[in-house]
Amino acid sequence: MKPNMQFSAPQWQDQCPRSVQFDDVYFSTENGLDETEYVFIAGNQLQTRFSHTEITPFNIIETGFGTGLNFYCAISHWLTRSKQQRQLCFTSVEKFPLLPADMQQIAAIWPQYTELVSSLLPHYETIHAGLNSFELLDGQIQLKLWIGDIHDALPQLDTPADAWFLDGFSPAKNPEMWTPAVFENIGRLSKLGTTFATFTSAGHVRRGLQSVGFDVQRYPGFGKKREMLKGCFLGSTI
Ligand SMILES: C[S@@+](CC[C@H](N)C(=O)[O-])C[C@H]1O[C@@H](n2cnc3c(N)ncnc32)[C@H](O)[C@@H]1O
Repeated sequence: MKPNMQFSAPQWQDQCPRSVQFDDVYFSTENGLDETEYVFIAGNQLQTRFSHTEITPFNIIETGFGTGLNFYCAISHWLTRSKQQRQLCFTSVEKFPLLPADMQQIAAIWPQYTELVSSLLPHYETIHAGLNSFELLDGQIQLKLWIGDIHDALPQLDTPADAWFLDGFSPAKNPEMWTPAVFENIGRLSKLGTTFATFTSAGHVRRGLQSVGFDVQRYPGFGKKREMLKGCFLGSTI
């Protein structure tokens, strides 16, 4: 691995990684996979959309790759639901990647993803700062993993998302992931019908997404969280 990356060294508590730097968890301590299914998969209506879409590649953009749990969950839905010969392109931005040994833990916690973790890890061990592009599972899945700050990475993307996973730690603990510049780029990288989902219901996130062209709905949150946000892009306001 190249030296110009700052790795995260999370603390593991009851099979849940916690960032010391951000004092926040990578996924719900109640059940990380159920949270991903509820917030990001159902929040973007991906079960139905994957079954019916003619779009290829279908583009998901995520803010914060973390353990890759959202990635594995999304691609496992894609593999069981999408029509043949369709490709899923998953782009994710990560400033503080986990070490491969921490990435391996996902297979121990959710053995149904063992094969997917094994197909990613040999590529993940080669990551470097900037864009890392990998084809997995005979090219059905493309992962574009940007290692760097969200403010450097998003302006370099040019293909709009079909769905956004906004997952960059809580806005109170990591305001850098939820700035007006980030929202502007999310709007720039969206088109009619693009959806987003996020676990947070912070007012400035809701207003920031509305200001760049999203219809934003509050929705009951996962587990102990009262509300989350999801919505659909109506058109550019910029
Ligand atoms: C809640 S975790 C993401 C969990 C992940 N989606 C998963 O499936 O495990 C938030 C991620 O955002 C990353 N992050 C924090 N600040 C960042 C920044 N300024 N730019 C890019 N990534 C950042 C963190 O390192 C962390 O991995």
